[in-house]
Amino acid sequence: MRNSDDRRMSADMRSFEVGVASRRVFLKTLALGAAVLAAPALFSPRALAAEAGGRKVLIVYFSHSGNTRRLAGFIHERVGGDLVELKTVKPYPEDYDAVVDEAKKEQEANARPAIATELPPLDGYDTVFIGYPNWWGTLPMPFFTLLEKYDLGNRTVIPFCTHEGSRFGRSERDLKALCPQARMLKGFEVRGSRVSGAAADVNEWLSGLGFKTAG
Ligand SMILES: Cc1cc2nc3c(=O)[nH]c(=O)nc-3n(C[C@H](O)[C@H](O)[C@H](O)COP(=O)(O)O)c2cc1C
Repeated sequence: MRNSDDRRMSADMRSFEVGVASRRVFLKTLALGAAVLAAPALFSPRALAAEAGGRKVLIVYFSHSGNTRRLAGFIHERVGGDLVELKTVKPYPEDYDAVVDEAKKEQEANARPAIATELPPLDGYDTVFIGYPNWWGTLPMPFFTLLEKYDLGNRTVIPFCTHEGSRFGRSERDLKALCPQARMLKGFEVRGSRVSGAAADVNEWLSGLGFKTAG
């Protein structure tokens, strides 16, 4: 199973690398995502943990060009809870080639970029969604910084990911290693260029996990 996952993943990584060479799809994705870059983070440190169908939900996401932010928005609309955007102290360059290079170097160096985001007290939550773009096959390194700083303990963790071909890559395994006590539920992945049309699939996935409509 793992071998076939790995084979599929490396085929996907090859297709990503071909994609990097042409970059057209990614640049289009970036252009689409740029429209939502200005969306404000909705978390207020004083906010009480919200109830969503009996679960107290925290949604933490990172997004460079807006796709994952939009997906996080769909999830938040549906399950409620608190929404937190993970930000780095030093923002990544907007230029696509520059961020691709920087992310690659960070990953090769196993870096822990400084983060500007603080999480609310985790006592208030029993379910934590973790959302990210696939960056070179896994989570962006700022999540490694975050999840080494904050222990999610035995909470329920639900990943969601946007990408341009590699799906989750190895990120689920890496996430599990970062929060080994957590109970990980089935995640959701979608191509960044298709996030806008994914609301119905998101709803179906969340229903499958037992989430009721927020309200
Ligand atoms: C630094 C970087 C690395 C990426 N690595 C991959 C990858 O390995 N596989 C893949 O399918 N897509 C890769 N992508 C594409 C992004 O995962 C995809 O465009 C995603 O939807 C971007 O999400 P965002 O708009 O929330 O930043 C990469 C993009 C960037 C900027």
